[in-house]
Amino acid sequence: MTTANIDANLPTLNDLISLKGRRAVVTGAARGIGYCTARRFAQAGASVLIGDRNVDGAKQAAATLAQECKATVHGAALDVRSVTSVQELAATAERLLGGIDIWINNAGVFRGEPLVETTDEDWDAMYDVNLRGTFHGCREAARRMIAGPKRPGQVIVNIASVAAVRGRVSLGAYSAAKAGVVGLTRSLAMELVQHGIRVLSVTPSMAETPGVAEMRAAARQKATDGNSVAAMEKAIRASFPMGRAAEADEVARVIFFCVSDLAAFMTGSNVLVDGGLTTR
Ligand SMILES: NC(=O)c1ccc[n+]([C@@H]2O[C@H](COP(=O)([O-])OP(=O)(O)OC[C@H]3O[C@@H](n4cnc5c(N)ncnc54)[C@H](O)[C@@H]3O)[C@@H](O)[C@H]2O)c1
Repeated sequence: MTTANIDANLPTLNDLISLKGRRAVVTGAARGIGYCTARRFAQAGASVLIGDRNVDGAKQAAATLAQECKATVHGAALDVRSVTSVQELAATAERLLGGIDIWINNAGVFRGEPLVETTDEDWDAMYDVNLRGTFHGCREAARRMIAGPKRPGQVIVNIASVAAVRGRVSLGAYSAAKAGVVGLTRSLAMELVQHGIRVLSVTPSMAETPGVAEMRAAARQKATDGNSVAAMEKAIRASFPMGRAAEADEVARVIFFCVSDLAAFMTGSNVLVDGGLTTR
């Protein structure tokens, strides 16, 4: 094959990054990484359904994005811990968007305590949202994608965490749940490839989001004096090879890449967005 032949067969870059005609569900997208992801999808021409435990936040985010991106964006109530709630969100996507091509399991909660203080309830709280919620989303999305007409670009992306691949003090339950997300992704990628559905996980290190701001505020409250807070913040900054955490949108851009046709040959990968953290 000559270079001219190859060039004639290649899609343009604009085609590869377009999500025109694609129908996307993003969980936990009232704010943070999920919101930035929904925004990039809407900018690329996708119609989007935002599901969030904070239903007012989901509706407000959808209204903002619909206006800003001149796109179809809806918001609805969701609790990923509940099978019924996830089923209802998927049914809403079929009703309002006409189907589901992209499903992002982003809803997550993070909290840590030392092992000896971790109660069964703490463990369940981390597992129910971060791992069971991701399982619920994968199963519902896959069932509907398989049952519907075959379409190009069907993909599920699960948001894991660097805690899945790197030890962190007091984050045992969260780390275990997120490691489960990475394992689940790999197996589902193998299982769903026969249906033309790609499955990927994206693993951020720390990103500046409202959830992280709340975690920092709680740590500040626990700290006994101003010096220990300053030392804690300095240690956090020093742990980043780039000297800073990610912006939420820097993570969203990688999620966008994963769902776009740029990543058409990727499935089962755990894509790190960690500013080099795991190279240490
Ligand atoms: N921000 C980080 O530093 C970071 C790092 C690694 C991984 N992550 C992961 O990225 C994802 C997004 O994190 P973020 O920092 O944007 O969080 P965030 O707390 O800012 O936003 C999370 C959103 O999820 C929603 N949510 C929580 N529980 C839910 C439930 N049961 N059902 C439906 N919605 C629910 C919240 O209402 C909120 O709108 C999470 O899975 C998180 O574990 C974040």
